[in-house]
Amino acid sequence: MRIPLIAGNWKMNTTIEEAVALVGNLLKELDKIDNVEKLVCPPFISLRAVSEIVAKSSVKVGSQNMHYEEKGAFTGEVSPLMIKDICSYVIIGHSERRQYFNDDSYINSKIKAAIKYGIAPILCVGEKAEENQQGKTNEVLERQLEQALTGIDDIVNLVIAYEPIWAIGTGISASGKQANQTIDLIRQKISSLYNKQIALNVRILYGGSANADNIAEFMCQPQIDGALVGGASLKPEQFISMLKQTSSIYYDIKK
Ligand code: 13P
Repeated sequence: MRIPLIAGNWKMNTTIEEAVALVGNLLKELDKIDNVEKLVCPPFISLRAVSEIVAKSSVKVGSQNMHYEEKGAFTGEVSPLMIKDICSYVIIGHSERRQYFNDDSYINSKIKAAIKYGIAPILCVGEKAEENQQGKTNEVLERQLEQALTGIDDIVNLVIAYEPIWAIGTGISASGKQANQTIDLIRQKISSLYNKQIALNVRILYGGSANADNIAEFMCQPQIDGALVGGASLKPEQFISMLKQTSSIYYDIKK
């Protein structure tokens, strides 16, 4: 059975002080929830402080990005070696990274590096609004998955996040049914790239305007194993509620 994962992507929000306060507000309630994996992904600068605060709890810390090299002349970058002791996960290929930082061509190397350093990659895939309207969603996702996973045999720790770009930060989420259908296609693609068992085991999250009001709609879908949450993860009441709802709904549906 797949264990659900709810991950908060704080993006470029919170100073160190604010990050410490935010995780402090989340910690007690999140720690009580034991059948859902709980992850917060603060900015690089706060990873250390947040990881110290959650150290004795069940809350995990992830990075929003990383370089694929261990060290070297890459001004401004952060390496897997630098984060591996404090991060259980790393988000790779977020659409904002693909759009603003040209990440498309580095995603495969970053996933390989994450696996090498024992950091579980959360690979983001998703189509643009126009691709969706032109009926190209499947084609786009297949291409993103093929490119990201080329030459990678072992994906036991990989998590995939389906984030339709038109739903990110817009307040317009996909419907539960839509997301479930697309995530089913992603699972089929993983089955064809690997095998059926690997596809059944891989966790696939939904992301894009997920919040406390719509999380139940996603979590009751058979193919959806959690959420990658942006805006709502900065609001403790929302995020805690999303975790609680996931914990009570997910296991009613056999996944
Ligand atoms: P929002 O939840 O703010 O739409 O962001 C989604 C996202 O990009 C998470 O990685």
